Amino acid sequence: MKTVRATAPGKVILCGEHAVVYGRPAIAVPLCQRAATATLEAGGSFRLVAPDIEQDDLLDRARPDDPLAAMVRLTLQHLGVEKPPQLRLTIRSALPVGRGLGSGAAVSTAIGRVLAAFYGRSLSPADVSALVYEVEKLHHGTPSGIDNTVVSFEQPVYFIKGRPIRRLRVGTPFTLVIGDTGVIAPTGQVVGDLRRRRQADSERYDGYFDEIETIVNQARMAIEEDIIGLAALGKLMDQNQEILATLGVSSPDLERLIAAARRAGALGAKLSGAGGGGNMIALARPETAPQIAAALRQAKAAEVIITEVS
Ligand code: PMV
Repeated sequence: MKTVRATAPGKVILCGEHAVVYGRPAIAVPLCQRAATATLEAGGSFRLVAPDIEQDDLLDRARPDDPLAAMVRLTLQHLGVEKPPQLRLTIRSALPVGRGLGSGAAVSTAIGRVLAAFYGRSLSPADVSALVYEVEKLHHGTPSGIDNTVVSFEQPVYFIKGRPIRRLRVGTPFTLVIGDTGVIAPTGQVVGDLRRRRQADSERYDGYFDEIETIVNQARMAIEEDIIGLAALGKLMDQNQEILATLGVSSPDLERLIAAARRAGALGAKLSGAGGGGNMIALARPETAPQIAAALRQAKAAEVIITEVS
């Protein structure tokens, strides 16, 4: 057989994380500079190989809650394949694990796509997204569904849990500088901790989520209509960060990178994803992005990515 390969991008949440778990909207964009790749080659019994996480398992022997094996099983079931083929599936990812850039969703999406390609079947983005959502539940219990949606549709989205996807039209392209704290923060844990805090004082927390909703809706207008401009979008990101810090999901490492980006001329900066570590994003004008990137490296960012959202 010929080798079959498929890829999937990462993602960045622009605003609305956490509140999105509680039914408020959020905005996310695909991150195309970093991808996960799934490769199928002829082999003996179906073998799953993920060198980045030192995994090498026969599908038959993988734990039922192993996310890679789960995506393979779900996809084969969806395609109506009863017996796993004689193949070796190798998964590589340039996305750091557990840092809010959608690595889990990207890996699952690449697996769904490569198996569909192998069988000459087309899986729509909505089909892939629904399968990946099932696997996301293994990663972090109560996902909103934003990661699987933005990664499998590969489009900027205005997302509300349980609603049909709404694509976001980007009126004026903008630049994001992404800085990685290098700290792994499991999404399930950060989301679970916040859930417990909310249970103790739901009125207060729901008030914060309402404030985030207002910010997200204004950000959507800023991006789609380009009426209020990039500087206003930056301010909205700063406001969102302030609430996220109040919610207890920021961290000293994130705050250090956010402050460095603002000092270097970012129009706004915030954590992105679950927080507690992981990545932050800064809104930049194209000409100031390199100096913000340099400031983030100076502030000990583990990795810096500049990306254009269009
Ligand atoms: O997977 P992460 O770390 O990007 O987190 C996703 C964003 C959350 O809103 C915190 C969780 C969710 O399911 O939407």
